[in-house]
Order: sequence, then C-alpha cells, then structure tokens
Amino acid sequence: MYSILTPAWIEMGSGSLASLEEIVACHDTGRVLIVTDKGICQAGILDRVVKATGKNAKDLDIFDRVLPNPDISAMEACGQVVESNDYALVIGLGGGSPLDVAKAASVLPANGGKISPLLGRGMIKKPGVPLCLIPTTSGTGSEATQAIVVDDPESGTKKAIWDRHVIPQVVIVDPYLTIGMPASLTADTGLDALVHGIEAYTARTTNPVAQAYARECIQLIARHLPRAVKDGSNLEARSGMSLAATLGGLAISNGGLGAIHGLAYPLDTVKHIPHGRTVAIMAPWVVDYNRVDNEETYTRIARFLGEDVDNLDSRAASQKAVSGIINLMESVGVSPYLTEHGIRSAEVDDLAKEAFRVSQRLLPSNPRKMAEEDVLGIYRTAASR
Ligand SMILES: [Fe+2]
Repeated sequence: MYSILTPAWIEMGSGSLASLEEIVACHDTGRVLIVTDKGICQAGILDRVVKATGKNAKDLDIFDRVLPNPDISAMEACGQVVESNDYALVIGLGGGSPLDVAKAASVLPANGGKISPLLGRGMIKKPGVPLCLIPTTSGTGSEATQAIVVDDPESGTKKAIWDRHVIPQVVIVDPYLTIGMPASLTADTGLDALVHGIEAYTARTTNPVAQAYARECIQLIARHLPRAVKDGSNLEARSGMSLAATLGGLAISNGGLGAIHGLAYPLDTVKHIPHGRTVAIMAPWVVDYNRVDNEETYTRIARFLGEDVDNLDSRAASQKAVSGIINLMESVGVSPYLTEHGIRSAEVDDLAKEAFRVSQRLLPSNPRKMAEEDVLGIYRTAASR
C-alpha cells in the first residue's frame, strides 16, 4: 500500500507561463504575493511573470529578499509578511530556495508562525494560503514535492519539513524561463535532478508510480542534459530538462531519497559546494556501494542512462550504472572526485564522520545498509584521485 501525492494542476511546456493570468483570476478575492530573489529580478524574469499575471504591478506585493540556502529565520520572516496581509495566493518564483520559502510562508500563519515545531513528517495541521510555484531552474523539483529544506544554524545541519500541506495547488513549468541559466548552473541543477531519479528509483520506500516518474526523469536527463549545458538556448533540451526536474520532484516526494543526498550534506553545509554538485560527486561512489546487493535494479538504471549492457554478466552490467553516471558528469564538466572540488585529502575522514552523523534521517531508505566505516570507505574512494 502506498500514497501518491501530486500538485492538483500542472501547466507544462514552452509558453505555459501564459496560464498565470487564469490562475491568478481563480484567486481574485484578495492580493497576491510573489516570493523570489534579487537574481530573478535582475534577470528580468520577475517583470515577465508580473506581466503574465494580467494585474498591475501596484496590485501585487513582491518579497524579493530570499537568499540561497534559506534558514529558519528567513522563512519565518516571509511567513510574517503573509500573516500581516490577507493574501489570496502566494506565488513562488525561482530556484529551490524561493520555492521552499514560498511553501513555508504559505503554511506558517495558520500553523503558529514558527518553523521548528513543523520539522519532520506530517507536523502541519492546517492548510495554508493557496500556492502557485514557478521554477526557473531544472533541478530541485521543489515545485512538485511535499518537502521544504531549511538550514538550521544552531545544529549546522539541513532539516526538512515533509508534509502534504506544502504541495502547491498549481505549478507552471515553462522551459523559456530557464533559457538564460549559465552552463555551470545548468549542469549542477541537472545532475541534482538525475540523482533524484536514481535515489527515488532505488529507495527502500519507493513504489511503482514513483519508479515510473524516476525512470522517465533519468532517461530525459541522459538525453538532454549535455545539450542543455552546451547550448543553453536549445529549447528542446531545455524542455526535456524542465520536464525531467519536475518528474524528479514527483519521484522523490512519492518514492523517497537515500544515502547520496545524506552523504552529500557536509559538502554543502561545511564546504559550501552547490547542492547539485555535492550529490553528483557522491552519486557514482554510493551507487557502486549500493549495486552489490541490487545488481538487477542498477542494471536497469544503466539502461536508462543509455549504456549498452547486452552480453554482460550482471555484475559488469550493474557497474555500467556507475560508469554511465561518471560519463554524464564528465560530459558536462563536473568531476566525480572530491579532490578536484577543493577538498584536501586530510579533510576527508572528518567530512565522512560528519556525513554519517547528519545522514541518519536518509540512511534507512537507502537500498543497502550503511555503517560509519562504509561511509568512510565511500568518501575515501571519492577522494582517490
Ligand atoms: Fe537534491
């Protein structure tokens, strides 16, 4: 038995931003708040979105103070803005950070205004202000998940809210909005989406519906990511990546994550490497560890990546999942080795210990059991060049 939870209304594809006017009109009983960041304003994307609402700019409120990796107080500050105004709709616009802040701000006023009591699974009691999410990157899939990731400065770790009340009512996934993304951001965010597909496909908590989302996500990324990175204006590649990222979000939200995300945490929180790159670096090494007990599953992943596994024994075929990930990473200029991302060999063991400590939430859903010495071995392998 399992549940499938998805946004009620998804507008997908080139030009779908035009549907925003109808969406706003459906909620025309009060003011609208757009939650975004300064980069989105400077790139001219906010202006396009304001125009697409069909409203005058003076009839909209803009909260553009979202910073990368938002922490508890940043989310509560936005929640207070929502609490002080009677908004009919909150629109989240941007990458994962503005979308997560919009999700939190929409539910905070009806649920006490504080993040800490809402951390964990199913802690939100009341629905929030209706939410419309518009991603401008192709990576986190936050637009389609029941998760909010939040930095907790007190513990120095990332924490999560996992609750059906933060799934948006409406999502607009318009690949035109991703056209201006620089190549390195396209690579990092695209690899994040790839890892979402791989982890959701293999998690102990997965189910056939989540696996269907995950399979399509992996196949689309293998087909479109290299071209999206090489030629950012290629709309076919951008469309493939936008769809893949949302499918990746649906996959993890319904299927779960595993040790790749868990082990990558300290690379993000301690070493400040972008999230997508951190999970990409850990991906081949965790997959190589996981495939030992699950050769058939990882052989399927190798196939989704476009690897030729015919005439190989099952061990060699499953190994193609590892080389397939490495090939895709190298084709978009991201090395799978920690030492090529500024990590010194002397730091590796401490990072591994921290990774084991902070990944306890995610290790139970990883397909193979992982002890502290296993994490140490994976980190050392990732630093072996
Ligand atoms: Fe991720």
